[in-house]
Amino acid sequence: MEKAGQPIGIFDSGVGGLTVAGAIKRLLPDESLIYFGDTAHLPYGDKSKETVTHYSERIAGYLLSQNCKMIVIACNTASANAYESVVKLAADKAIVVNVIDPVIDHILAVKTKSSIGVIGTKGTINSATYEKKISRRNTELRVVSMATPLFVPMIEEGFIFDDISNAIIRSYLSKDQLKDIDTLILGCTHYPIIKNQIDRFYNFRIDVIDSSKIVAMHVREVLYRNHLNNINNNPSYSFYVSDYTDFFKTVSKLFFEEDVELKKLNFWNG
Ligand code: DGL
Repeated sequence: MEKAGQPIGIFDSGVGGLTVAGAIKRLLPDESLIYFGDTAHLPYGDKSKETVTHYSERIAGYLLSQNCKMIVIACNTASANAYESVVKLAADKAIVVNVIDPVIDHILAVKTKSSIGVIGTKGTINSATYEKKISRRNTELRVVSMATPLFVPMIEEGFIFDDISNAIIRSYLSKDQLKDIDTLILGCTHYPIIKNQIDRFYNFRIDVIDSSKIVAMHVREVLYRNHLNNINNNPSYSFYVSDYTDFFKTVSKLFFEEDVELKKLNFWNG
């Protein structure tokens, strides 16, 4: 098969990365997708860099064995901790895209910004990846970050448009650290689900950045630039999880915005 007709591999610790997969499918409907959610090892947000890297390399190895032309790391924690290792592994076999660099490019292109807030898992925030990458390119921008670990279980348990989620959102976002920001990066692929509530908390005064659409546009740009966009118009979709429960099936629809046929695939012991 011509390389352009090969699938895009996408992975996350679970089903949160389906926000990115959904944005890619809507923007690039001709592309075949293979999604892998490592639900057996969820969450990645509390794990060490070594562990997240180990899992990410194994998943990337699987996606490469399926001839993926591109691997999208649809997880901020894995993007912050394992991107370089996955790039090394993929070498010249596949292009690797993370969910952090396209967002930083987007922010730096908008010249009016001065104070950026980043929220994400402990693994993402402790790595200080956003601060390091932004300060390397623009020393004027103020970047503050804060871990918001309750958001992932809150979203997965379906607390999204109610008093509980509003109270948790208010409690985190009213912390002093995030005072006076003009932009908030949603640095976790689960968070687009609560973007509306976050916008409302700020009364739509600041720019709340949902990385999924930005990443999808970056994927399109990279595919076109490398002449790797599929023009055959016969896409196929596979969605795998390393541990299957009906619960994952139910929440996956929320993230992908349409029905998803999840299949169990556990290659950890094989
Ligand atoms: N979706 C993951 C991320 O973007 C968070 C979930 C987890 O902790 O595994 O970091």
